[in-house]
Amino acid sequence: MTTSTRTQVAILGAGPAGLLLAHLLQNAGIDSVVIDEKSQTEIENTVKAGIVESPAAAVLAQSGVSDRIYREGMKHDGVEFHFNGEAHRFDFQDLVGKSVYLYPQHEVLKDLIAARLRDGTPPLFEHRAEAVLDPQSSQPRIVGKKTTGESFEIRADVVIGADGSGSIARNAVSQSRRDGYFREYPFAWFGVLVESPPTFDELIYSRSDDGFVLISTRDQNVQRMYFQCDPLTDPTAISDAQIWDRLQAGVEGTELLRGPIFRKDVLRFRSFVAKELRNGRVFLLGDAAHTVPPTGAKGMNLAISDVLWLNQALRSFFSTGSEDLLDAYPQNALKRIWKAQQFSYWMTSMMHIAPDATEFDRQRGLGELSLLTDSRPAQQAFAESYTGWNYGVDDSSFAL
Ligand code: PHB
Repeated sequence: MTTSTRTQVAILGAGPAGLLLAHLLQNAGIDSVVIDEKSQTEIENTVKAGIVESPAAAVLAQSGVSDRIYREGMKHDGVEFHFNGEAHRFDFQDLVGKSVYLYPQHEVLKDLIAARLRDGTPPLFEHRAEAVLDPQSSQPRIVGKKTTGESFEIRADVVIGADGSGSIARNAVSQSRRDGYFREYPFAWFGVLVESPPTFDELIYSRSDDGFVLISTRDQNVQRMYFQCDPLTDPTAISDAQIWDRLQAGVEGTELLRGPIFRKDVLRFRSFVAKELRNGRVFLLGDAAHTVPPTGAKGMNLAISDVLWLNQALRSFFSTGSEDLLDAYPQNALKRIWKAQQFSYWMTSMMHIAPDATEFDRQRGLGELSLLTDSRPAQQAFAESYTGWNYGVDDSSFAL
């Protein structure tokens, strides 16, 4: 037996992009159904990264998702760069009058799911999509199976692929899944989650002869730290003592507060932008449309930009029947997508040491860092990018 559901907008993926779009559409009285293969518990309890830019925090609060980010998030008014044995702080408030919020993505997801349960159709968890069909028709649909084995179908006027980097929806938009613009990097991050209090109040990005180190945090009891490694590193093959040596080398002068390491993983880096963001009535957004390397933490913030453009275009489509803004979606979204690609690529290449780096490359890299830290306008440009460019969409398109 197949369960069949009909809605205005079928959204594949209960990540930040899919759930926020559902919320904003709901504010305009547009029905949507969000589906995801994972369970609600898994989504809410998988510890994830989370630097939320000022404009992204404002979208979450002003659109009525939640203002918990302002009450419980950690406001960071700056970051530190360590290189050549020196520490340099970028004071975001002084440079551009903005901050970022350390508020892990799984907390954003809890807020978004609560908003959905409060205001709209509850997301369908444990629904695994197999395909998006009929993209060129006026009734595209998602077909798949629940984890219980039952088949389902969701018919809609529009289907949104917000299903992350392994997107199924991309098959309905592109000729081939790999149809896009790629860059692979010759290094990766070895990431650990540690049970300990934070050592520092702000994030530290460090570049030393051994490569990159990042000291980040999740909350008062859990710390997130990374060091540069070979992409083929086996996470189980490195001892805790080696891990602490590598991390400590990135922050000379201050002893890191240590505790049990309870997760180790290797994050491979990729930059990707899909060639097509739309086919007929199927649209891609967030990681389904693009991936950035994690340096600079642009992923979720960038997804919110796509959401705002699509929200505006769908509101216009459902109220007037006009597809003009839907037609303009790829062009509108791509401008910020490529800005974020450039920022993430630049920060990644500046902070890491490539395995084949020559002495010239190493010294030039230090020169690049000095050009940044010795110049106030350059620091302002960095602070502006890091804390987040204002979204190009008029505020009224996400207001209640
Ligand atoms: C993280 O906390 O996981 C994190 C923070 C900042 C970044 C990347 C990742 O630039």
